[in-house]
Amino acid sequence: MRTINPEANQYNLVLLGPPGAGKGTQAERLVKDYQIPHVSTGDIFRASIKAGTALGREAQKYIDAGELVPDKVVIGIVQERLKESDTKAGFLLDGFPRTVPQADALDDFLRPAGRPLSAVINIEVDPEILVTRLSGRRICKQCGAVYHVATKKPVQDGVCDHCDGQLRQRVDDQEETVRKRLQVYAAQTEPLIRYYQEAGLLRQINGDQDINRVYQDIVHALEALAND
Ligand code: AP5
Ligand code: MG
Ligand code: ZN
Repeated sequence: MRTINPEANQYNLVLLGPPGAGKGTQAERLVKDYQIPHVSTGDIFRASIKAGTALGREAQKYIDAGELVPDKVVIGIVQERLKESDTKAGFLLDGFPRTVPQADALDDFLRPAGRPLSAVINIEVDPEILVTRLSGRRICKQCGAVYHVATKKPVQDGVCDHCDGQLRQRVDDQEETVRKRLQVYAAQTEPLIRYYQEAGLLRQINGDQDINRVYQDIVHALEALAND
């Protein structure tokens, strides 16, 4: 485990990046090593869909079409999650914010509470690679762990290493939906790179490397932050 400094709220983090950049993959390891909760809006929606809740039914329409769930819905969910005590010493947001109004709302919520963001880690990957990554992705039906048919295989074919759950493809990983998600990313989420650059929070990471190398680069960026 790495040392953290909860008083300084050093690890109030956002993972930014296009669909398939490796946010979930890196988050799995970061939250273990830094002992902070993983707040993934995509995972929250998928859990609600699985549980058949009203939120799940509402979100599914957008997710299956590769579109964004309306800001109002997402912002409310994240604010509620960030009120929980386990997030007070740090958190890792994955897939949120995804629009400028979401980023503004996050800032409006965190800043008055004296817990501003420490850094925004932007994982950059060439769009052509993203399509291949997403079409080969498999996720665990039970715990959501992320695999890939070529680059991150489970020990036993089709079975999760962590919980023995069955692996499956995400509905929104069909090529046509992936292309739509990439368009939505470019139009609505990419402006956040500039937004966070101007706020002095952005840390650029080359996501087009081996998973372990990407992880090392993120850790170095966070170490530099701690030494600032
Ligand atoms: P969400 O679940 O957040 O999906 P996403 O942003 O499209 O990102 P992904 O989960 O697809 O990719 P990832 O970056 O996590 O990559 P991963 O690590 O899995 O959102 C889903 C939907 O929910 C949205 O479309 C929207 O409808 C809705 N939603 C969520 N948040 C919202 C918000 N804030 N506002 C509105 N709507 C929202 O890796 C991908 C694959 O690549 C895996 O197979 C992995 O093994 C492999 N891989 C990872 N890294 C590497 C590497 N370095 N080299 C080779 N392979 C790699
Ligand atoms: Mg993900
Ligand atoms: Zn599992």
